[in-house]
Amino acid sequence: MLIDRPVIVALDFPDASTALTLVEKLDPSLCRVKVGKELFTRAGPQLVKELQKQQFDVFLDLKYHDIPNTVAGAVSAAADLGVWMVNVHASGGRAMLEAARKALPKNGDTLLIAVTVLTSMGAEDLREISITVTPDQQVSTLAKLSSDCELDGVVCSARETPVLRRELADDFLLVTPGIRPAGDSMDDQKRVMTPAQAINSGSNYLVIGRPVTQADDPTAKLRMIMDEIHGKN
Ligand code: C5P
Repeated sequence: MLIDRPVIVALDFPDASTALTLVEKLDPSLCRVKVGKELFTRAGPQLVKELQKQQFDVFLDLKYHDIPNTVAGAVSAAADLGVWMVNVHASGGRAMLEAARKALPKNGDTLLIAVTVLTSMGAEDLREISITVTPDQQVSTLAKLSSDCELDGVVCSARETPVLRRELADDFLLVTPGIRPAGDSMDDQKRVMTPAQAINSGSNYLVIGRPVTQADDPTAKLRMIMDEIHGKN
């Protein structure tokens, strides 16, 4: 299912002014943007409002993980801010996911998605916290739990997308970082897919940071990525 504006540009900047300087070079009819923990902690709701004023859909990537009542309050606050997408950690468990979903009813204005296993964690890291199944099994378990609790989707690595696409409903959103257009630098990403490969293997949204934010012409780069997705180059 190819969605309108599948690219979410990760605004991984230390302050509002650097983020806004980049955003001036982007077109909200071509992409959405992601605000994460560092930028939000420094620049706060005011920056989110500024981005919205410039017509950008904002994914607030704060990965909430707390007791159900606290997470319900946090996602409500995100919805009040008018963000397009917000996320929680699926490992917070069923009660937390259900409380978040209740606070943010399905088909409202804000999409609620879950993080499964951080891709920075390998089998060894999971074993150390007494999770003895493989990372892939844990990802599947948490994605199914998220779907059971009627969340709108999960963040997953492109490597996990084909299996999750088979296991979950067609309209369950898969949001995928670790994307590199062919020939681009890998930076610190280890396993990457091209935009077209990720979409073809079932991703709905692609989180792309440096390939766009460090490009000489970010809009031209985005157009190139969209053309690649649509098979035009
Ligand atoms: O610059 P780059 O395209 O590597 O940025 C990817 C973005 O996706 C960053 O904001 C990063 O934190 C995020 N991300 C990731 N891998 C995950 C989850 C999130 O790269 N597993």
